[in-house]
Amino acid sequence: MISGKITKAINDQINKEIYSAYLYVGMAAYVDSMSLGGIANWFRAQAKEELGHAEKFMNYLSEQGGELVLKAIAAPDQKFTSVAGLFDKTLDHEKEVTASIHALVTLAKKEGDTATEIFLQWFVTEQIEEEASVADIIQKLAIGGKSGNSLLILDGILGQRK
Ligand code: FEO
Repeated sequence: MISGKITKAINDQINKEIYSAYLYVGMAAYVDSMSLGGIANWFRAQAKEELGHAEKFMNYLSEQGGELVLKAIAAPDQKFTSVAGLFDKTLDHEKEVTASIHALVTLAKKEGDTATEIFLQWFVTEQIEEEASVADIIQKLAIGGKSGNSLLILDGILGQRK
C-alpha cells in the first residue's frame, strides 16, 4: 500500500506522460505536413513510448492499491516553426519530465517508500536515454546546418525507428 501523497504524485505523473504523448502526436502531424514521414514516424514512436510509461505507472498504482484518478489532459502548443525548433522543444520537455521523476524519487525517500523508490529507478535510467537521444538529433541537425539535404538524411534515419 502506498501513501496518499505518493498516489497523488503518481497520478500527476500519469497525466504528464499522457500529455507528452499528446505533444508528440501534434509534432508528428506538423512534420507529416512537410512530407517528412520519417521524422513523423519518430515522433509517433515517441508518443507510443509515452503511453507505455503512463501504463507502467498505472499498473504500479494498481498493484500497490492506489486509486487511479484521471484528470484532463491540457492541449499542447501546436505552433511550430521549424524542425530544429521541434527537437529543442522536445529536449526542454524531456528535461521537465526528468525533473518531475527526480522529485518523485525525493518524495518516495521522504515517505520512506522503498518500493516506489526502486520502481522509479527504471524511469530515472529511461530519462537519461530519452534526453541523450534527443540531444543526439539536435547535434546532427546542427552539423547538417539548415540545408534541405540534412533534413532529408535525418528523415531517413528517424524513419527507421520501430
Ligand atoms: Fe515519459 Fe519522455 O518521458
